[in-house]
Amino acid sequence: MITPLSDTALRDADLFSDETLADPYPLFAALRDIGPVVYLPRHDLYAVVRHAAVREAVNDPERFSSDHGIALNSTANDQILLDAVLASDGATHARLRRVLSAQLAPRAIAQLRASILEHAGELADRVVAAETFDAMHDLAVPFVTGVVTELMGLPSEGNSRLAGWADATFNIFGPDNERTRASLPHSHAMMQYLSQAAHRDQVRPGSWLHAIYQAADAGKIAESECLPLMTAYTVASIDTTIQAITNALRLLARHPQQWRDLREDPASLAPAAFRETLRYEAPIQALGRRITRDTELRGVPLPAGRQLWLLYGAAGRDRLQWGTDADRFDIHRPGTEQQLSLGDGPHLCAGNHLAAMEATAMLTMLAERAPHLALDTAAPPARRRLNNVLRGWTTMPLSVSHEPPPAAS
Ligand code: HEM
Repeated sequence: MITPLSDTALRDADLFSDETLADPYPLFAALRDIGPVVYLPRHDLYAVVRHAAVREAVNDPERFSSDHGIALNSTANDQILLDAVLASDGATHARLRRVLSAQLAPRAIAQLRASILEHAGELADRVVAAETFDAMHDLAVPFVTGVVTELMGLPSEGNSRLAGWADATFNIFGPDNERTRASLPHSHAMMQYLSQAAHRDQVRPGSWLHAIYQAADAGKIAESECLPLMTAYTVASIDTTIQAITNALRLLARHPQQWRDLREDPASLAPAAFRETLRYEAPIQALGRRITRDTELRGVPLPAGRQLWLLYGAAGRDRLQWGTDADRFDIHRPGTEQQLSLGDGPHLCAGNHLAAMEATAMLTMLAERAPHLALDTAAPPARRRLNNVLRGWTTMPLSVSHEPPPAAS
C-alpha cells in the first residue's frame, strides 16, 4: 500500500536521503503521477520517471548526452568519468565500446556457459550442504568476482576488495553529498590498484584487459584511454550482477510457489526471473544525461545545458507500462524483455549477455539442488546497503531444505 505524499514533500523531494534510498517506490509513484518528467529543485534536475520517457531519452543521445552528463557532481563528470565509455557520445563512444565488443557478444558468452555453470554448481553445492547461508557473501560475491576477474585477467589477490570499490564508485555518480565524498578515496584506490595489478606485463593473454592493451598497441585507442576502460568494466560488471543475483534469490525466497515453478522449468523461468528481478528492483536505480538543446520530452519542456536523471528504478514500476500490479514480483509476467534496467540505445549494457548468463546459471544450479528456499528467520535480518545509485544489500541470510520450512506463526 503506497502512502500518498503531500505537495510540499514532493516539491522538496530528496532522492538521496536515507529514507528514500531505503524505500524509494512511494516517492517514485508520486512523481510518476505528476508526469513523465518532473523538475526537482533540491537537486536542480529533471527526474525522468515513466518507462516511455526513459526509453525515449536513452535512445536520443543527440538531445540527451552522456558526455559530462552521467553523474550529478562535477568531480565525477569532469575527472573520474573523463574518457569513460559510459560518459562519451558518438564516434568516441563507438570507438571505445568496440574494444571489447567481440568478447561480450552472445557467441563469445555462450562459450563460457559450461565453466560458469560449473562454478555456480560448486558454490550451490556448498550452500546446500550448509543449509543456511548468506546469498551475497557465500554465493553472489565469490561467484561474480571469480567470473569477472578471470575474464579480465586480473590476479586473484585483489578480488575481495573489488566489490567494495565498485560499490563506492557508484556512490560518486550521485550529488555532492556525504556518501559521494566518503566514497571518493575508495574509487581512487580502485584506480590505483588497477593501474598496478593490471599493468600490461601482468594481465593474462587472451583476457579482456589484454585486449584493451592490444587495442592501444594497434592505435585504436590512446594509451591514456586504457585505465578508464578497465575501470568502466570493473565497476559496471561486479556489484550490479551481485545485487541482481542477491535480489533474485531474496524475491524467490519470499515467493515459494514461484521457486517451485522455476524448479519445474529453469530453462525458460530462470531468464524470466532475472528479467523480472531487474524490472522490480533495478540494481542501477538511475544515471544522468545532459540536455544539449532546448527541447521537450513527452511534452515537458527542457532547457539546454540542464541535467536529466533517468530513474530506471521508477520506470520498472510504471503502471502505464506494467499494469496495475506493477508493484508485484511475478516471474510469469509477460513482456519483461522491455524492461530498461540494463539501459537501451547506444549505451545498452555492454555486459548484458554475461550478466544474464551468470544470473541464470546461479538460479538454475540452486534450483536443481534446493527444493525449498526461504529467508533465514533465525539469522539477523538482511540489511540494505544505501548507495546513491545502486540498490542492494549488505547481507541476505537464506536457508535451503528438502522439506518445506515450518509456516511462520
Ligand atoms: C545485472 C547486472 C547489470 C546491470 C543491472 C547493468 C546495468 C547497466 C546499465 C543501466 C547501463 C546503461 C548506462 C546508461 O544508460 O548510461 C549499463 C552500461 C554498461 N554496462 Fe552494465 N549492467 C550489468 C552488468 C554488466 C556486466 C556484467 C558488465 C561487464 C562486461 C557490464 C558492463 C557495462 C558497460 C561497459 C556499460 C557501458 C556501456 C556504454 O556506455 O556503451 N554491465 N549497464
